[in-house]
Amino acid sequence: MIQLALVVAAGSLVSGLVLAFLLRRAPTVSAQLAGLALIAVCVPLAAVLLSGWVMFHMGADVKILAVAAGSATAAVFAALVLARSISASLRRVGAASQSLAAGELSARAPAGGAKEIAELAASFNAMAAGLEQLFDARRELVAWASHDLRAPIASLQAMLEAIEDGLVSAEDYLPTLREQVRTLSMLVDDLFELARIDAGALTLELRRMPIAPLVASALRLLRPEADARGVALSAEVDDEVEAELAPDKFERVLFNLVTNALRHTPSDGSVAIRVERRASDLLLRVEDSGEGLPVEAPARMFERFWRADRARSGSGAGLGLAIARGLVEAHGGRIWAENRPQGGACVSFTLPAA
Ligand SMILES: Nc1ncnc2c1ncn2[C@@H]1O[C@H](COP(=O)(O)OP(=O)(O)OP(=O)(O)O)[C@@H](O)[C@H]1O
Ligand SMILES: [Mg+2]
Repeated sequence: MIQLALVVAAGSLVSGLVLAFLLRRAPTVSAQLAGLALIAVCVPLAAVLLSGWVMFHMGADVKILAVAAGSATAAVFAALVLARSISASLRRVGAASQSLAAGELSARAPAGGAKEIAELAASFNAMAAGLEQLFDARRELVAWASHDLRAPIASLQAMLEAIEDGLVSAEDYLPTLREQVRTLSMLVDDLFELARIDAGALTLELRRMPIAPLVASALRLLRPEADARGVALSAEVDDEVEAELAPDKFERVLFNLVTNALRHTPSDGSVAIRVERRASDLLLRVEDSGEGLPVEAPARMFERFWRADRARSGSGAGLGLAIARGLVEAHGGRIWAENRPQGGACVSFTLPAA
């Protein structure tokens, strides 16, 4: 008796496993679930019938066959209903992904359904939201870049036409022409630098060197502008402080930060560069006594083309801080901005100590 029970149990187990394995080849979720229901009903039923036939010599009773057919039908029916709802939820996620692939970036999969499918829909939606944000940012970038390139080109064109028509003499317009060409070439340089940062094509020739001479050279470069604006420009840096950096990129960062500080500080104000050696890195700060930062600025000012006041003429393209962030991060540092308690802004960045 016991042996028979063991043989039947082992036989059911093996045949159940083999059938389940074969079921994985069924082409649809509905077919797999219906097959699973059939296995779940038929394998135990077959085991009971086999045991009954061997032990009690029961024949193929019509009642037993009817019960078997009835329960198998009920199980397949229930499985098909369940499969329908599962495949409907999967189809909804599939439809959303097809819309996304066709370029409809606002397509989202409906939430709800079984936990796994709801999780699939949620991660699909997170991916779609990320893509949409990225595309919006790219679109804005192209719109702003072409706007900022168009303005100096239009002005160059107008001036050249005026000279051609003999309305003005070339000499009168030469300084303005040169200024517009300079603006244009700075903008193109900035866009090129950003593109290199984005592409990861930035090659930093890192050298261990003292900071003081680099700060002094940036100050020399910016002193005329500070004097013209009547702003006191100073630096506090220890001669011994060293860092591992690419000198040209470091100067570029400092130049961008100090240019901003000068631009936003009224005459009689001051701009100071401070360098502090900390346990594991160097902290560099550019502080000004200017107008300070609007509330949303610290979170947004490192984005490309972001300016607090887009309407203000004479301000730059909004690329300086985006470039500074790219260069600082390429050195393994961090950059951020805040308002000083005593008024004015402070933009700080770190560099790994040498
Ligand atoms: N020291 C500061 N004080 C107040 N606002 C600042 C300061 N530095 C930056 N900002 C704000 O952050 C914005 C972005 O600065 P960013 O250097 O990226 O661009 P920009 O100076 O306008 O143009 P660009 O640097 O391309 O010539 C500025 O337009 C300004 O609104
Ligand atoms: Mg700037």
